Amino acid sequence: MTARPFLKWTGGKQWLAPTLSPYLRPPPGRSYFEPFLGGGAMFFAVDPRRAVVSDANAELIAAYCGVRDSVERVIDGLESLKNNERTYNRLKRAVPESRVDRAVRLIYLNKTAFNGIYRVNGSGGFNVPFGNYANPTICQAERLRAASQALRGASLRTCDFGTAIRAARARDVVYFVCRPSGG
Ligand SMILES: C[S@@+](CC[C@H](N)C(=O)[O-])C[C@H]1O[C@@H](n2cnc3c(N)ncnc32)[C@H](O)[C@@H]1O
Repeated sequence: MTARPFLKWTGGKQWLAPTLSPYLRPPPGRSYFEPFLGGGAMFFAVDPRRAVVSDANAELIAAYCGVRDSVERVIDGLESLKNNERTYNRLKRAVPESRVDRAVRLIYLNKTAFNGIYRVNGSGGFNVPFGNYANPTICQAERLRAASQALRGASLRTCDFGTAIRAARARDVVYFVCRPSGG
């Protein structure tokens, strides 16, 4: 299965990925950098052998690490969860420590929150209401396995984009989208 994003993420570039990704493959021995990873649409479309991918959102990066390193445990965790408000509220309040539990929490909330939005308040608490969707696909097992494979050659970092791209060298590829100010 070709790897694709396993999260709905605001501002994702799934629509742009088929057109742009063929031009973003790094030359042999060089790395692909994506410092605003989000849902990773471009990363999965490029499918680089070596990558440095990062985001300022620590929960997001912990989730990618959990999927990369322990995908079967993430799948088991997601399959054990029900789509109801009680489970949702429990996970919304939870502060798990392991990357596997952080991945399970983030993916579950992403699939069941209203509009799949990820939003936190000033103290870092997740504050999106329950989506109450009839039958959301909480665990996309094959998609998670494909993503885990694609992430195997990726170094994942929680950091600001400026810090992330300082490690880039000649002939590495760095991808991000700039929005014109005021636009
Ligand atoms: C629109 S998403 C990225 C979409 C993704 N590149 C794609 O192809 O689908 C933007 C991401 O940038 C992250 N972000 C915002 N400000 C940041 C910063 N200063 N440094 C690093 N990441 C940042 C957010 O946490 C969010 O996950």
